[in-house]
Amino acid sequence: MRVPLIAPSILSANFACLGDEIKAVDKQGADWIHLDVMDGHFVPNITFGPVVLESLRSYSKLPFDVHFMIEPIDPFIEPFVRAGADQISFHIEVGPHAHRSLQHIKSFGIKAGIVICPATPAIAISEVLDLVDNILVMTVNPGFGGQKFLTSQLAKIRKIYEMVKETGRLISISVDGGINAQTASLVVEAGANVLIAGTSIYNQPNYGQAMNALRGVQK
Ligand code: DX5
Ligand code: ZN
Repeated sequence: MRVPLIAPSILSANFACLGDEIKAVDKQGADWIHLDVMDGHFVPNITFGPVVLESLRSYSKLPFDVHFMIEPIDPFIEPFVRAGADQISFHIEVGPHAHRSLQHIKSFGIKAGIVICPATPAIAISEVLDLVDNILVMTVNPGFGGQKFLTSQLAKIRKIYEMVKETGRLISISVDGGINAQTASLVVEAGANVLIAGTSIYNQPNYGQAMNALRGVQK
């Protein structure tokens, strides 16, 4: 089985020292840094804005993978690009002009992704596959860390894997929510190649070991 990329989600890190928490996973072999931006409107939780992202930028050269859980999207694209985002993914459920928002993100020369909630069928993203670099499949309902993985989403990951294959394009398939060593092997088997994880990395004493466990590598 392919070894997936690991994207620690700082939502479960110690917010009193986020810079050091990012440095720590970077040093221990993380591939991307996942940053959850929540607005208390699209999701029932609030995290941080571009000022915080900008202040974290100098702590790691790894790609900053920004997960928008905000509505609207468009006014916040440029501020997050300027702050140092390498990829911005937003929810297909935030309407109505996903196509334009993806074009807008790509116009800054960074990567663009689309996120799909548990209740949304795979077909909902079929008309934007020519524009996306990343598809993020939520395996919990967005808003909080530490929730239980939804097994029901495995079939959707498989479907999306087939849809991506058909495009012939290079599109990463990320999964987010309830990813631990057990669920990691299920989603990788279904076709995911980027594992986003908060609790199962930041709530462990050894971040490096935790990331290797997700990769299926015992070290
Ligand atoms: C939830 C966020 C996730 C969150 C995952 O809405 O998008 O990135 O950090 O947390 P865990 O890995 O604890 O389920
Ligand atoms: Zn996320």
